[in-house]
Amino acid sequence: DWQMGSYIDEAVAKIREQVGDEEVILGLSGGVDSSVAAALIHRAIGDQLTCVFVDHGLLRLNEGDMVMGMFEGQLHAHVVRVDASELFLKELAGVTDPEQKRKIIGRLFVDVFKAEAEKLKAGDKGHKGAQWLAQGTIYPDVVESGGTKTKKATTIKSHHNVGGLPEQLGLKLLEPLRELFKDEVRGLGVALGLPHSMVYRHPFPGPGLGVRILGEVKKEYADLLRRADAIFIEELRNCTDPATGKTWYDLTSQAFTVFLPVKSVGVMGDGRTYDYVVALRAVQTSDFMTADWAELPYGLLKKTSSRIINEVRGINRVTYDVSSKPPATIEWE
Ligand code: XMP
Repeated sequence: DWQMGSYIDEAVAKIREQVGDEEVILGLSGGVDSSVAAALIHRAIGDQLTCVFVDHGLLRLNEGDMVMGMFEGQLHAHVVRVDASELFLKELAGVTDPEQKRKIIGRLFVDVFKAEAEKLKAGDKGHKGAQWLAQGTIYPDVVESGGTKTKKATTIKSHHNVGGLPEQLGLKLLEPLRELFKDEVRGLGVALGLPHSMVYRHPFPGPGLGVRILGEVKKEYADLLRRADAIFIEELRNCTDPATGKTWYDLTSQAFTVFLPVKSVGVMGDGRTYDYVVALRAVQTSDFMTADWAELPYGLLKKTSSRIINEVRGINRVTYDVSSKPPATIEWE
């Protein structure tokens, strides 16, 4: 709408004024905030922006290609894609503790991003080197890190964030979404031409599938989980609730599949199978602090289950998680 249009004009002018003819680096995760920040900054300064997309190998099916297709293919932005999946898998081998996994993933992510940012800072032919680091920080993040929100005494899960990176890299900080709430960021994303499916995507944790594969992370497990999860998400998007006219994807706040590294017995044709189990998780929540499991239609669960078992060789049992938060958490790790 016109209001968002004039907001974009103002934001673009402000970014141009701040940055001048200098160059900017931005870490692209595929999430809403960094994507909207990238689209806005690209609108403002075009080729002076370079996005760095670190693929830790724990992303969803085709996610890396989708991010590249959108930012490089459609927006024609510079994007450096770093495939670090082997490094992450190597460092995660043998590690089963959820917090330890989070710490390893968080540390490697920062290492890989920093190494790439250092290169961009140094510059090369045609690039004089970046002076800015852009981040998709939004207003609630600002409030949270300012300590205005009361912090719980016990940390249930350590969420890795990339605080302090600009200082460590000696770069100036550019945060064009600092004053916006999530809804406004989404509105801005739509106005900038990002697809609805990306702007209204469920949140995805930084450690990715690393906390959705229980215990040790293995490539085999990640590959099975990616395929099962894609089927669940596709079915949620294809199933519309007649009462509201909305899809079950939009009626849930977060939905995903969890890989359980245990085997159970099944039967397929004339033969016995002995394969892995997955759990489907779908919740409704307004703040992610408490959440109810979603009362998905049986037909949707039935179709998802039969598709996963028939299409993903290696999984022969699908369960549905009927635990609310608290006492369960949304993620299983
Ligand atoms: P829990 O599992 O604690 O999740 O009920 C609440 C919300 O936080 C997300 N989550 C994370 N996000 N890094 C993140 O960036 C993490 O380590 C992490 N752990 C949980 C979770 O997906 C849910 O939206």
